[in-house]
Amino acid sequence: MLKVMATQVEIEALYPHKPLKGQTAIVTGANSGIGEGVARHVAAAGANVAVNYVVGPEAANAVCEDINANGGTAIAVQADVSSEAAVQTMFADVISKFGTVDICIPNAGLQRDAAFSQMSLEQWEFVLKVNLTGQFLCAREAVKEFLRRGPRPEVSSSLGKIVHMSSVHETIPWGGHVNYASSKGGILQLMKSLAQEVAPHQIRVNSIGPGAIKTPINRSAWETPEAEQKLLTLIPYNRVGVVDDIGKVAVFLASDQSDYITGQTIFVDGGMTLYPGFATGG
Ligand code: BGC
Repeated sequence: MLKVMATQVEIEALYPHKPLKGQTAIVTGANSGIGEGVARHVAAAGANVAVNYVVGPEAANAVCEDINANGGTAIAVQADVSSEAAVQTMFADVISKFGTVDICIPNAGLQRDAAFSQMSLEQWEFVLKVNLTGQFLCAREAVKEFLRRGPRPEVSSSLGKIVHMSSVHETIPWGGHVNYASSKGGILQLMKSLAQEVAPHQIRVNSIGPGAIKTPINRSAWETPEAEQKLLTLIPYNRVGVVDDIGKVAVFLASDQSDYITGQTIFVDGGMTLYPGFATGG
């Protein structure tokens, strides 16, 4: 595992008041990268966490063991988020274990990069299926469960919270990654249209738009000093992000601290969406 993350003990210390106590969260793609960081923070904030993974239970189990050893509650749940049946089974399992789901963080995502003229239909469809359809399927099961279960004012003012994991590329075009950028552009309207539809039910739907965060998905962009220097030209704040930057905002958006926020993307990007080239050009 990549060690660019605080330890579980350090993360626990951030949330002495346990703002998510008594709630249950599903985090998809939580066996590595941003999803792992989000699962650790949400657990440290007091929620029971379902750590979803698609292949290789070892990493997901290790995340759960670490959370459970530090006072949290986590279980690993296998599901391919692009499969309707698998997502439905995952929700049923988590609901039977913890009683309900209060927080859904559809995070699982991947890249299959190619120059546009070389991009296969398979590369296009695979990325859209996991990144966009996967988030649709999870959000839909979450909304169904929130409506079925009804209010729980003892744990939250809202009926339920969905925090989509988008990207700066829901707004920044990304040549060579047209499938990925299209999936994130799709998440923007999935999130906003869904937020508009379910707000009257007191369900909040928001997105996090991470910039460059040190995870396996973009390792080549930061792992050598030369690559990191080049990447920093895109980041006015002058550091590459870490998963804890995202975990903290996920807890905020899942908690009543953000009770009046819905239909928004919070970019967590060190200013990448400020188009730094224009600081001296244009
Ligand atoms: C991508 C990363 C990239 C970052 C900034 C993310 O959504 O997954 O590979 O480094 O955006 O461009």
